[in-house]
Amino acid sequence: MDSTKKVLVTGHPGQLSTALQKIAGEDTGWIFATRADLDITDRQAVRAALDDHSICTVVNTAAYTAVDAAEADAAAAGLVNGEAPGLIAEACRETETRMVHVSTDFVFDGTACSPILPETPVSPISEYGRTKAAGENRVRDTLGSNALIVRTAWLYSTGTTNFVATMLRLMSTRDRINVVDDQLGTPTSSHTLGRAICDLIACDTTGTHHVTDSGVASWYDFAVAIHEIALEIGLLSKAVRIDPIPTSEFPTPAARPSYSVLDKTSTDAALGRHAPHWRTTLRECLESVETSRSRRANTEGCN
Ligand SMILES: NC(=O)c1ccc[n+]([C@@H]2O[C@H](COP(=O)([O-])OP(=O)(O)OC[C@H]3O[C@@H](n4cnc5c(N)ncnc54)[C@H](OP(=O)(O)O)[C@@H]3O)[C@@H](O)[C@H]2O)c1
Repeated sequence: MDSTKKVLVTGHPGQLSTALQKIAGEDTGWIFATRADLDITDRQAVRAALDDHSICTVVNTAAYTAVDAAEADAAAAGLVNGEAPGLIAEACRETETRMVHVSTDFVFDGTACSPILPETPVSPISEYGRTKAAGENRVRDTLGSNALIVRTAWLYSTGTTNFVATMLRLMSTRDRINVVDDQLGTPTSSHTLGRAICDLIACDTTGTHHVTDSGVASWYDFAVAIHEIALEIGLLSKAVRIDPIPTSEFPTPAARPSYSVLDKTSTDAALGRHAPHWRTTLRECLESVETSRSRRANTEGCN
């Protein structure tokens, strides 16, 4: 990439933008914009941001990601997930800026029984999914095949608002937890996704591609693996009982796809590699959480 050109990342400090920031490290070619810096629903602000000719690529990680809240707040979700990607795409077209847009497995209905190809017609079953599908369409309608749309699933990070963090919290405060075992997908580290996005940008990939870690799990499998590894590395001090339950015993406002495994063949071909297995990246994430925890405990011990 031209060293005078910059990549603008929206939606900071979300899970994905934080992972991208860690990957970028000291590289000054990245700009991470919070909602206060750049509200993606503000047409003029988006256009003004892209009128800065040093920007060659926008990575839109900003989204309304509260899946259940979106059921009662479809208009707000629609503005951020459905309309705003179109505003970014228009500004990208007018300023000849490349656009990378991040989307979700929730654009599918979960009735597939083999890994879902990028070209499979979308059929969302929740407001979140419908708004994300609308956003994808706006980007495609505006930029055609010039945009890169990356769908991912079951994203987690070392942050505090994701399934891993929730499980660690519950496992350290309860003796027993129930976890749904009839929804299948692939837990995906934000680091894997961030790395893949950087490499897809570097090789000028366009079109719609799927990026997740490798393998398949239910939420129950994921919880059991979190528990096993967390106990092994000392992140949890006591074992808890984890029971599998059907989705029908854990009703949520938004319906979830029961099968969300995404086919990554086109991404693997573009990148020339397979994504790591989800258990491998889960261990790396939990080790990083444990290292931060020990550091904090040592610092507090010193004060
Ligand atoms: N999390 C998952 O499991 C998952 C799964 C599949 C796909 N995805 C997709 O992956 C992408 C990244 O997700 P993530 O987990 O990193 O999301 P996240 O952690 O929820 O971060 C989203 C960020 O977007 C910001 N944002 C919301 N509205 C905005 C606006 N109008 N203008 C600017 N920023 C705004 C949020 O700020 P506030 O905190 O101020 O709201 C937040 O910082 C999203 O496109 C999401 O749909 C996520």
